[in-house]
Amino acid sequence: MEIFNTLESEVRSYSRAFPVVFERAVGSRLYEESGREHIDFFSGAGTVNYGHNNPVFKELLIDYLRSDGITHSLDMATTAKRDFLIRFERVILAPRGLRYKVQFTGPTGTNAVEAALKLARKVTGRSNVLYFHNAYHGLTLGALAVTGNASKRKGAGVPLLHTMPVPFEGDLGERDTIEHLRTLLENPSSGVDRPAAVIVETVQAEGGVRAASLAWLQRLADLLREHGILLIADDIQVGCGRTGTFFSFEDAAIVPDIVCLSKSISGFGLPMAILLIRPELDVWSPGEHNGTFRGNNLAFVTAAAALDYWEDGSFTTEILRKADLTRDRLTKLTARHPHLCGPLRGRGLIQGLHLKPEGLAEQVARAAFRKPSARRTRSSSSCRRSSSKTRRSRRVSTSWKKRWSRCWLERRCPSSVAPRLLPNRQAVEHLAIEPPPGQEAVHRRDEAGVVGGGAASAETAL
Ligand SMILES: Cc1ncc(COP(=O)(O)O)c(C=O)c1O
Repeated sequence: MEIFNTLESEVRSYSRAFPVVFERAVGSRLYEESGREHIDFFSGAGTVNYGHNNPVFKELLIDYLRSDGITHSLDMATTAKRDFLIRFERVILAPRGLRYKVQFTGPTGTNAVEAALKLARKVTGRSNVLYFHNAYHGLTLGALAVTGNASKRKGAGVPLLHTMPVPFEGDLGERDTIEHLRTLLENPSSGVDRPAAVIVETVQAEGGVRAASLAWLQRLADLLREHGILLIADDIQVGCGRTGTFFSFEDAAIVPDIVCLSKSISGFGLPMAILLIRPELDVWSPGEHNGTFRGNNLAFVTAAAALDYWEDGSFTTEILRKADLTRDRLTKLTARHPHLCGPLRGRGLIQGLHLKPEGLAEQVARAAFRKPSARRTRSSSSCRRSSSKTRRSRRVSTSWKKRWSRCWLERRCPSSVAPRLLPNRQAVEHLAIEPPPGQEAVHRRDEAGVVGGGAASAETAL
C-alpha cells in the first residue's frame, strides 16, 4: 500500500478500509494481487449488480472494440446509444407503462442529481428543494446541499443553500412524518418556502440501509402531487434490480417525475448516468446541461446487454429468492445476538444489520476482512503452476465451500454458546458474516452502525 499512501491524495477512503491491492474480479469474487479471494458484499456500492466482468457483456465489449466502435462521442448520435435507447424503451419503460425521456448526464451519480435539481428548479421557477435526514445524493455542491452527512457537507467550504432537510420515515418515532411534511407545506407560517421538489431514496443506502415502507412512499407521492411539487427518485444505488424490481419504486406503484439512475445502469461498472424525465417536464434548452463524457459508448453497449436480464420476470424471482435466503440467515443471527444486533434493515438484496453497541459495526467489518490465516485460494501464477500443494489447498477450499453453503452463518454461531456470555471479541467474530478460510468478505459499514448492505451481486455468493 506504500505507493498509494505516498502518491495518492489523502482523500482516498475505501483503500483505507480495505488496505490491500486488488488485481482482478469475477462474478461476486474479488482477488488481491497475492491471489487471496474475497466475496464482494460491497458490489461497488451497487455498481456491479450483474457481477464483476460478466462474461456475456465482456465479450460484447471486446467485439465492439475490435470493430472500431465509437468510444467517445459527446452527445452525438451513435449506433450504441440508439441500441440502448431502443432496448430501454422496449424492455424497461413500455412494459411498465412508463413514459420518460432519457437524458444522458455526465457519467456520475452526482451529476445526474445536479441535472435533476436544475431541471426541477427550471420547471417550477422555485429554488427550494426538500431532502430527508440521512440522505446521500452525491458530493458536488448541488447534490451535497441535499445530502445529510455533516462531515461531507463541511467539505463544501461554502454555505449549502436553497434546500431543507425533513424527517424520513421513522425519524420522529411514533409521529407520522408524512403528516409532519404536510404541516410544513400547508401551514403558511411554517417558514418553509414552497419547494420545487422533494428528492428521495426509497432505501437510504449510504444513510444506514433504511428502507421506506411502500405505503409511506405512496403517501409521499400523493402529498406532493396534491401540492404541485415534483418528486425526484434517486435510484442511483438501489435501482437496476438491487431491491428485486428494476426500479426500486415499482412495488409502491408510484411514478416519480424525475428518476436518477447510475451505478449499475451500465451493467459492467463503466461510468454512465441517466435522468428519466416525464416528457412534459423536458424543458431544457439544447446544451443547458452539457458535459464531455455523456457519450460513453462502451457503457451503452453493456447497458443495452444488461437489459436482457429484464426480458421476463425470472431475474426478479431469483433476486427475491436470494433476498429471502439472506434475510433468513440474518434473522437467525439476530435471534442469537438480540442484545447486539437488530433490527434488520433494507429491501431485496440491499440488507443491513443494525449493530447496537457503539463501534461494533466497524469491528465486525474489520473482522470479516481480517488478515488471512495464511491460506490463499489461488493466485494467477500458482493456479497455472498447479503444484501438488496448491491442488491440496484447492481441495480443502472446495470442501470448505460445500460446508459453507450448508452452514454459512450458523457455523459461526454454534447454538450451544450463549451469546450473552460471549466476550466482545468472540461476539464480533460471530457477527462477522464471514466466508470460509482463504476468502475474506468486503462489507459496507457506515456511521449509522450498520454492517452488511451492498449484499451480493446477481451472480451471488450466497
Ligand atoms: C443514492 C445515491 N445518489 C447519488 C450518489 C452519487 O453517485 P456518484 O458517487 O457516482 O457521484 C450515490 C453514491 O453512492 C448514491 O448512493
